[in-house]
Amino acid sequence: MPRLSGHTRMYLILAGICIVIFVSVLSAYLPSRTLLPPPENPRYLDPELSTAERVEDLLSHMTLEEKIGQMALVEKNSVRTEGDLARYGIGALLSGAGGKPEENSVAGWSDMVVRFTEASRSSRLKIPILYGVDANHGHSNVPGATIFPHFIGLGAAGDVALVEAVASATRAELIGTGISWSFSPTLDLPEDIRWGRTYEAFSDDPTLAGTLGAAYVRGLQGSGAHIAVLATPKHYIGAGAMRLNTSSNENFSIDQGTTPPDETKLRAVYLPPFRAAVDAGALSVMAGLNSWGTAKLSTSSYLLTDVLKGELGFEGFIVSDWYGVYEIPGGEYRAAVTAINAGIDMVMLPFDYRPFVRNVRRAVTRGEITESRIDDAVRRILRAKFALGLFERAAPLQEEGTVGSLEHRTLARRAVSESLVLLKDDGVLPLSASAQHVRVAGSAAHNIGRQAGAWTVEWQGIDGNWLPGATSILDGLREVLGDDVQIEFSETGTFPADTQAEVGIAVVGEPPYAEGWGDNNRPELSAADLEAIERLHAVSERVVVVLVTGRPLFITDQLENWDALVVAWLPGSEGAGVADVLTGARPFTGKLPLPWPSEVSQLPIENGVTRDGTAVLFPRGYGLR
Ligand code: BGC
Repeated sequence: MPRLSGHTRMYLILAGICIVIFVSVLSAYLPSRTLLPPPENPRYLDPELSTAERVEDLLSHMTLEEKIGQMALVEKNSVRTEGDLARYGIGALLSGAGGKPEENSVAGWSDMVVRFTEASRSSRLKIPILYGVDANHGHSNVPGATIFPHFIGLGAAGDVALVEAVASATRAELIGTGISWSFSPTLDLPEDIRWGRTYEAFSDDPTLAGTLGAAYVRGLQGSGAHIAVLATPKHYIGAGAMRLNTSSNENFSIDQGTTPPDETKLRAVYLPPFRAAVDAGALSVMAGLNSWGTAKLSTSSYLLTDVLKGELGFEGFIVSDWYGVYEIPGGEYRAAVTAINAGIDMVMLPFDYRPFVRNVRRAVTRGEITESRIDDAVRRILRAKFALGLFERAAPLQEEGTVGSLEHRTLARRAVSESLVLLKDDGVLPLSASAQHVRVAGSAAHNIGRQAGAWTVEWQGIDGNWLPGATSILDGLREVLGDDVQIEFSETGTFPADTQAEVGIAVVGEPPYAEGWGDNNRPELSAADLEAIERLHAVSERVVVVLVTGRPLFITDQLENWDALVVAWLPGSEGAGVADVLTGARPFTGKLPLPWPSEVSQLPIENGVTRDGTAVLFPRGYGLR
């Protein structure tokens, strides 16, 4: 062996150190599994085995990185290359609201989902992704889909069989584009109508929300041997009780705010709907972006692990909400460690998955997250994937012709009729068969964007008439009243002053909004709508006001001037369902799913009890027949 000079030895030692550093950095960045062959005896691919056996077998073949990949939920536009799905073993993708394919059509959606699914199945272990969307009121991301009333309208209808039917039609439309997962139903119990998500909830009544939520889970998941579309009750927990001016988002006042921690209310009010949904078979639950007292929900091992997984016996997985984990203070590494240890199983990142994989792997290496916690999370995710039969779906299930079908639209029209609530009637309704001349006015009379609300193709919705296949309330009236009745329309209520119509119908309400962008310190009618009502009144013998709204509005000062008041909520694509009831073809059966306040000082309202102790304008359950 030749003798080396001191310098050469030093260089060699330095080079050695550099190589070690280089290799460890490289291995930290490159997923090592890409080098592994597929397992020789993949028993988990055998559909004859039980789900539990398949889960355990698959888990036994997985590397740590493959497990961590399953815990990542990525927004589809953040996927760098389709190859990354297999390379990182990504567990799930989502289309955040408005996250559409290049060609926003039924075919465009199916092609996109098929492509991503195939890419995920090309991995060593062939684990298919879950593909999730917010089907809050039908498969509402897709133009041409049936848009059902938002949940608040279904809460007003209060019809369990109807909700199950709506969910099963939604399932068929989702399957029509290959989608296996929906972030619904919402089981929040709104106590403050200033919150921009009031309409996403069925009711502030835990029993009603639980009964309808369970029906929705059954309808969406179906009753076959496999779950057809995975439901996700959200937002666990207490989000409907967030208080004004507590939001962690500077743009909002309530949304992403603080729920006062209250153990009694947790058990008596917030938990029962989730218990009902879990008992109905839900295998994923979304944690809210709210704080429980001083800490973000995703940090609470008490609420996530002890209560939901422990007490409620929830065997599915808990998914965090949009970027919610990273709102935990301390930086991305600390946030991921805290949330996963608290019980979050799948993290809606939703953007860069590579640092997530690195951070979680580092945390496991350092012993800050145990491998058994990782195994528990992945077991829960795989359990849902096997329950969905995803491994056996040769291609994502697809059904031709279901999206926006006549059958679904007919169901939606009935749902609209059932959701209408009659709050006042001085003998105008139903429109008398002898009415020959009707005038229609207001911002929502001929505006499908308003009647559909947000979460319709775009996150914040789109004002105006643009949704294919939908019927506006005005067109519904024309269709139902027929040619014998003269119908005049002016959005602003501008009509010839020399004649009086027998009835004026003012269809007025809120423009679309979603989440904290809809937080509003005083929800009420716009000046333009109030003027339209007044003008219409001047040229009509009687006036019926129809509110198209995501929540009760402050109408205390105007109510006495109106001859009748109908709440239509956000009815969706089938405006004719409103006409069916106004004309008496169907009866009024809806009831208020939450109290209707008369003044802001009454908010929040907890189980019917107002903050200032005064009486509301109409209590929950009110509705004339
Ligand atoms: C909402 C969730 C929704 C998620 C995915 C979030 O902003 O809070 O309700 O499921 O986005 O679109």
